[in-house]
Amino acid sequence: MAKLTYLGHSAFLIEGEGLKGIFDPFLSGNPQAAMKPEEVEVDYIFVTHGHADHLGDALDIAKRTGATIIAPYELASYCQARGANAHPMHIGGSYKFPFGRVKLTPAHHGSAIVEDGNIIYLGMPCGFLVDVEGKTVYHAGDTGLFAELSMLGERENIEVALLPIGGNFTMDLMDAVYAASLLRPRLAIPMHYKTFPVIEADPEEFRRHVEALGIGAKVLNPGESVEF
Ligand code: NI
Ligand code: MN
Repeated sequence: MAKLTYLGHSAFLIEGEGLKGIFDPFLSGNPQAAMKPEEVEVDYIFVTHGHADHLGDALDIAKRTGATIIAPYELASYCQARGANAHPMHIGGSYKFPFGRVKLTPAHHGSAIVEDGNIIYLGMPCGFLVDVEGKTVYHAGDTGLFAELSMLGERENIEVALLPIGGNFTMDLMDAVYAASLLRPRLAIPMHYKTFPVIEADPEEFRRHVEALGIGAKVLNPGESVEF
């Protein structure tokens, strides 16, 4: 069995045969974080874009553990320049890692960081399709609703879809329900809500709407896991 553990915001641990990974490890400064960055032991760090609530503690974790950061090219290059191992990829590209395929999907969003008041642009944001134990997990990253999700739903056999529901910066709750209807995963899990006042949303409302479509849905509290 593979396992996903919610760490709050868009951070998830993903574990399975040959894979100990983490998505968007925003732990320091995250009031919902279920883990301290120094407790994270992983081999791979999936980073969807350069915003501080996603890049988070990725550099510190990568440098301490030797983990490889998997990210779009510009963001991966930024991480390499700061001493981390990184595997650059880009939108639509896939690569077979020892644990399985990783493919980058589009995300309608930004990907800049601000250092000393200067904006450093880090290319395109992404989502991830990650195969583990032959099953596909889709982490949408930060994105608005977009039509190509229906293509992912047709071509990918998605086991678990991790979808932002908080609005303001990303799709809101009902857009995320529509995204789930296009993706048809076995299980949809909400993320990117409650951390800040502008992204308040009720994850149970998301669950009810998704289940009404005949699709599985589960709300994970920070620290909770689901096996698949
Ligand atoms: Ni963002
Ligand atoms: Mn975000």
